[in-house]
Amino acid sequence: MISKTTINNIYEAARVEEVIGDFISLKKAGSNFKGLSPFSQEKTPSFMVSPAKQIWKDFSSGKGGNVVAFLMEHEGFSYPEALKYLGKKYNIEIEEFNKTPEEQIKFDLRESIFIALNFSYEYYRENLNNTDKGKSIGISYLNSRGFSEESIKKFGLGISFSEKKSFTDQAVKKGYDLSILEKSGLTIKEGKKGFDRFKNRIMFPIKSISGRVLGYGARIMKNSSKTAKYINSPESEVYQKSKVLYGLFESKSFIIKEDNCYLVEGYTDVIQLHQKGIKNVVSSSGTALSSNQIMLVKRLTENVTIIFDRDQAGINAALRGTDLLLEHGMNVKICKLHEGEDPDSLARKYSLDHIKDFITQNSLDFISFKASLLATEYENEPTKKAELINNIVKSISLIKDIIKRELYVQTCSKIMKISEDSIFETLFRIQNSNKNQFRNQPTQPLNIIKNHNSNEDSIDELYELEKKIITILILYGQKTETFNESLLIFSEKNDEITEKNKHVSSKVYEKIFLDLQQDEIEFANKEFRDLYNILMTEYQINGFVSIEKIVPSLSTKLSEIVSSIILQEEKHFLHKWDKKSIYVKLPSENVGVMVTETILSLRKLLVGKKIEFLQDSIKSKNNKGVLEDVMGYYQLRRIVSSKLNRVL
Ligand code: CTP
Ligand code: MN
Repeated sequence: MISKTTINNIYEAARVEEVIGDFISLKKAGSNFKGLSPFSQEKTPSFMVSPAKQIWKDFSSGKGGNVVAFLMEHEGFSYPEALKYLGKKYNIEIEEFNKTPEEQIKFDLRESIFIALNFSYEYYRENLNNTDKGKSIGISYLNSRGFSEESIKKFGLGISFSEKKSFTDQAVKKGYDLSILEKSGLTIKEGKKGFDRFKNRIMFPIKSISGRVLGYGARIMKNSSKTAKYINSPESEVYQKSKVLYGLFESKSFIIKEDNCYLVEGYTDVIQLHQKGIKNVVSSSGTALSSNQIMLVKRLTENVTIIFDRDQAGINAALRGTDLLLEHGMNVKICKLHEGEDPDSLARKYSLDHIKDFITQNSLDFISFKASLLATEYENEPTKKAELINNIVKSISLIKDIIKRELYVQTCSKIMKISEDSIFETLFRIQNSNKNQFRNQPTQPLNIIKNHNSNEDSIDELYELEKKIITILILYGQKTETFNESLLIFSEKNDEITEKNKHVSSKVYEKIFLDLQQDEIEFANKEFRDLYNILMTEYQINGFVSIEKIVPSLSTKLSEIVSSIILQEEKHFLHKWDKKSIYVKLPSENVGVMVTETILSLRKLLVGKKIEFLQDSIKSKNNKGVLEDVMGYYQLRRIVSSKLNRVL
């Protein structure tokens, strides 16, 4: 865990405009900065950074938040990774604590391995780029395969020479411990001696999502049947094959931007596609795609296009990968290459436009892909066709989203020329046989009929109203306004609710606080509830809220909400930036009316909900007392409604 002091130091030092400025070109616009959204492709800037408030907002995607939220969104960092990145940028020492002695030892071991790997990274690159041998053997090989100098640099390619232990000797000479070198997979120990694992090979460094070297894929330069084409780093304390995707570090920002990820088989496929200009691409490095790898991608996009080699191994891998991707709720397409092609050869042969067109034209959804594999066979062979349909329906049954599943049933019905009913029946059968297979696992009933949520509209309305109250609190909380207060009086005698009016002047935040208290209203949305409490505490202590002071202490989620609210207000300013027009503030003259209106609307909504709830319980209980309550609430709703109409 990173210590609280460190986190505070980081937030104090970090400037959102500087950090974002490293990734996006920002132009000054009034007191803010503007730029092109990194999360979508746009021509006019809708990305905004506020140095005063230390927040950002991307109006094209709706994302926004503080400096850490930006790094998490843009770089795919985890929270600690984002903090460490900032620590590095601003030279702040990261103090971590709360580690047990075992954890500390493990941590130290991992760090030592990382350092050794980093040394090897420099060593192999130096070999390739700055020695005669490297240039004559390595660079010439890479050039013959069409790798540009830029690609070699970008992907950090290196070379190991044929000597048995040149790397290990050099590392030991520099003070690296033999056992650490062994644990990092670079050295093989025999007795007290260490030998290099990688000899006479091009070194493809495999990096973590934040760019640390974890291990290597090492390729021979002359194809030979005697030795494997690739030797890979063994699994280690830092390298687990199933948790890494080759190219993710280099591709992640492009995956977010394109909202799609190409999945290929090999190292060379990734590099060649990058070189051609297709940069949202990762490789599973010849191993079967794993759940962990899918989760890495899912943080960046839900859309995956598989482009595997056009051979039987590639097709089988694509089929397996598809099912797992579907199970993880991803949208999958499979691009069918021509016989004998792989993405590497595609990238080398054709122009960027041609490749893009080709991929678009040849990408199939998984049903069409499966159907296409047997296209010629199944037409006249009922058993083959039935087998294929079963196979497709099995994939459909993996999809958890009901609506998506139903859409795929339709697609399957169309393509395979079979009724939707039969497909549903097959789905049920598969579901049931799964149930029998895993008798002890609770399985959800297959819910083919859409689950209509009758409350959807009112839930949204509630959300909007709560958000509006938060917005008012942030923007106008400290303003003093005159409110038309009314007291609702319930008279026992004639069973009537009446109201009395008077004008009072008070601070907006006080009015909101008292009104909500009076009705014992608590926000339904957790984020709004938290934010409400934070804002109210600030107002009650200081009489005002200084957004730039509270933002750093907010969770990323809350800071996102705050920045969205604040910068939303300044949004229209964005479009006029270039014309240097004067910034017109949103009409805040009638804040009092807005406050009253919002609270009344919220009240009306809640009363309505209460009525609904009571009516439901009457249905089951037929309770006279409840009926009276309902009548009372009806009356209340009428009064609230009429007041609301008067305000509007
Ligand atoms: N692979 C491996 N070991 C092998 C062969 C392949 O680990 N003996 C992995 C590598 O990660 C490789 C991927 O499987 O990148 C795909 O294999 P292949 O298509 O044979 O290799 P390419 O990377 O395409 O290499 P090249 O273009 O040089 O043939
Ligand atoms: Mn290949």
